[in-house]
Amino acid sequence: MDSTNDVAREYAEKGAPEGTVILAQYQRQGRGRMMRSWSSPKGKNILLSLILRPSLRLEEVSLITVMSSVTVASLLREEGFHAFIKWPNDIYVEGKKVAGILTEMKSEKNEVKHVIVGIGLNVNMDSSECPEDIQKTVTSLAMLSGHLWDRTVLVRELLLQLEKTYEHLQNQEYDFLLSQWSRLSSLVGHWVEVKVSDKKWEGTVLGTDAKGALLLRREGGFIEAFLSGDVKILDRMSV
Ligand code: BTN
Repeated sequence: MDSTNDVAREYAEKGAPEGTVILAQYQRQGRGRMMRSWSSPKGKNILLSLILRPSLRLEEVSLITVMSSVTVASLLREEGFHAFIKWPNDIYVEGKKVAGILTEMKSEKNEVKHVIVGIGLNVNMDSSECPEDIQKTVTSLAMLSGHLWDRTVLVRELLLQLEKTYEHLQNQEYDFLLSQWSRLSSLVGHWVEVKVSDKKWEGTVLGTDAKGALLLRREGGFIEAFLSGDVKILDRMSV
């Protein structure tokens, strides 16, 4: 198929229930954030999309990305990897990207109709199977651990844990989620640059707000919230 997110969207539009999962061995046109492509060799990694119909307001939908990245990072920590979330949707281990999350939403009349959570987790690939320009920046569980992983077991565990974290979200236990996010974030306390289109801001990351936006304390103390963008750490801990 082209992209599990596209197939999930078609199903969602036809009324597929919350919790429907689309899995693929390969995507012809895997997508990442900001129109980037997501490439993954055949039969090696986890490529999945989950249909959700959350009772969230439009401005709270970023919490779905928070929830998903917390789940993936926690799962990897349980499996023994020192995983970090790089806001908003990347999971890193040993300085390399091991997973990415693409959250897409459909709304109507100010109401959330559905949210598609697309997760790409590099499991058994070798970086030599990736396009050359990203070979040095990506990793997989097999590359990190030195052995192959059973993807079925991992998918099952991932879905079970997503279900649990989603329950926290549906019960409006936002503080729990956001504290988990801060615990797992590679950014809190760092002096960073946030790039949105061609504009750049610098500041210290404080965490996320109740809507999942990244909070940056700028020089002079002014606090700015970002719902999207690219982040680069400019120095080590600054608070
Ligand atoms: C990113 O890092 O920018 C997000 C990558 C998300 C990739 C996954 S793979 C399964 C799902 N289908 C897609 O086309 N994209 C997501």
